[in-house]
Amino acid sequence: MSQEVIYLDNNATTAVAPEVLEALLPYLRKSYGNPSSMHTFGGRLHRKIDEAREMVAALIHADPEEIVFTSCGTESDNTAIMSALESRPAKRHVVTTRVEHPAVLNFVKHLARKGYRVTFLPVDNNGRLDLEAFQEALDEDVAVVSIMYANNETGVYFPVETLGSALRDRGIVFHTDAVQVVGKMPVDVRTLPVDMLSISGHKLHAPKGVGALYIRKGTRFAPYIIGGHQEHNRRGGTENLASIVGFGKACELAGRHLHEEQTRVAALRDRLEASLVRNCPGAEVIGATTHRLPNTSNIGFEFVEGEAILLRLDEYGICASSGSACTSGSLEPSHVLRAMGVPFTRMHGSVRLSLSRYTTDSEIDRVIEVFPPVIKELRALSPYGR
Ligand SMILES: Cc1ncc(COP(=O)(O)O)c(C=O)c1O
Repeated sequence: MSQEVIYLDNNATTAVAPEVLEALLPYLRKSYGNPSSMHTFGGRLHRKIDEAREMVAALIHADPEEIVFTSCGTESDNTAIMSALESRPAKRHVVTTRVEHPAVLNFVKHLARKGYRVTFLPVDNNGRLDLEAFQEALDEDVAVVSIMYANNETGVYFPVETLGSALRDRGIVFHTDAVQVVGKMPVDVRTLPVDMLSISGHKLHAPKGVGALYIRKGTRFAPYIIGGHQEHNRRGGTENLASIVGFGKACELAGRHLHEEQTRVAALRDRLEASLVRNCPGAEVIGATTHRLPNTSNIGFEFVEGEAILLRLDEYGICASSGSACTSGSLEPSHVLRAMGVPFTRMHGSVRLSLSRYTTDSEIDRVIEVFPPVIKELRALSPYGR
């Protein structure tokens, strides 16, 4: 591809930061030892894992001991839920929402097939959680509540503080999937009432294949990946050293750029969104515009197919998404937008644009220029849109 790519799909994955690549390469080149080895060549590398652990912990104000490295956000989510269930074998009820990422949704559906009871909480048209339904679901049998911090498709936050406070002192484990939040918004587990929290490296400019699970001190924990003694017996498997080093660096950088995410990136997103809604008839933002990630916009274009928009944008080198990366490829409308009751005609024409700290003003100018004629042209082809 000769033209420059304009990458607005950062909720799917992000570019590895140059500083991250530089930090991790020595551990793929010369320092390839196994950190569990007795010899100095390998064993000394354990220190690098501990340093990375400190950096990840610092980003969310955790104690390094509360961080367990995993292979991805999905593993962190599965581990948290399974650990809560194994630690409370008498309790068989899991509470979650209809709009979780498949990393939670499909895992709890699997648990339901194994005999666990699962409550899927509904959301309203703006993607906000039904708090009454949440309260009603909390019976004596609940072992774990797993509710995402922010939705990957719409960027809408859930009130994790309120939910956690309601769960405190009830003996229910509260897990939140914060994969889309950490690195974009400040997270402080000293005041956030959660027991476990999932993070994924590749959403914050670290490589793919590394993640972390925060486990609050005092929370009962049962490992999910069982093998060697790595991660203080909490997660077996030889550590992905280079990626862990890179993840640590990425967290340090994310901490430094948090303010920019809230200000410059949010302003770019707002400019893009306002312009598209103004200049594309029948375009409307999907989901609440307050309480939303600073980088995410989901726009529904009436009477146009989202996939058709993506293909046309692709010709201009613009990368966007029509829902979760895991569901694209199938023409099933997004489970998130369905749960929100987004009208059929808008849901099918939904496009998610997600920015990063690498997104520039001139890239947004270009997208603003390209988009309206694309929508006009596609709508002219639609039997309903003319
Ligand atoms: C909210 C959320 N949770 C979990 C995941 C899964 O993370 P990973 O790709 O690291 O397994 C994603 C990835 O898109 C996500 O957006």
